[in-house]
Amino acid sequence: MKKETFAALGALAFSVSAFAVQAGDVEAGASAFQSQCQNCHNVTNEDGDVLAGRPNVRTGPNLYGVLGRQAGTVDGFRYGASLVEAGENDLIWDEESMTVYLQDPQGFLRETLDSNRARSQMSFRVRDEETAVNIIAFLDSLAPAAEEGEEETVSN
Ligand code: HEC
Repeated sequence: MKKETFAALGALAFSVSAFAVQAGDVEAGASAFQSQCQNCHNVTNEDGDVLAGRPNVRTGPNLYGVLGRQAGTVDGFRYGASLVEAGENDLIWDEESMTVYLQDPQGFLRETLDSNRARSQMSFRVRDEETAVNIIAFLDSLAPAAEEGEEETVSN
């Protein structure tokens, strides 16, 4: 009886702490990335291997390892001032912040910076939360090994 309760609590804690990544459907995220993101972004690792999207797409920054990264910090990418400022104010992308950002980048920046003058250079919006969560799970599946290690710790 007790044992079961603990197991249930453990499962609950796990599903809450790793909510977005666990809930997302990686395959659905891959196809949504393909149709909605890869015109502007790709995912390219340190060795220059293109893991998603096409080479030499530079309208938006490389999304490799974006979860856990400070916003606005890909070397050589010319971000808008608002996103850089949000990063300097300690915005580190995680499932929660990115889910909101993807559905309304400019609204997210206005809220985060508490300023109606904040502007996003990404005008694209994902239509619903489920799609955003799936895309995030897909990006997380391509992330550097260190991040996967972190998730394993969460599940213990
Ligand atoms: C029309 C081009 C375009 C499309 C489509 C687009 N983006 Fe972007 N994205 C950008 C640009 C430009 C920026 C930089 C925004 C800024 O500087 O304000 C950006 C920024 C981002 C950032 C912040 C990255 C960082 O380094 O801080 C994330 C995350 C992101 N995009 C994810 C996505 C995802 C996921 C999709 C698909 C659902 C997508 N974008 C679709 C152009 C695009």
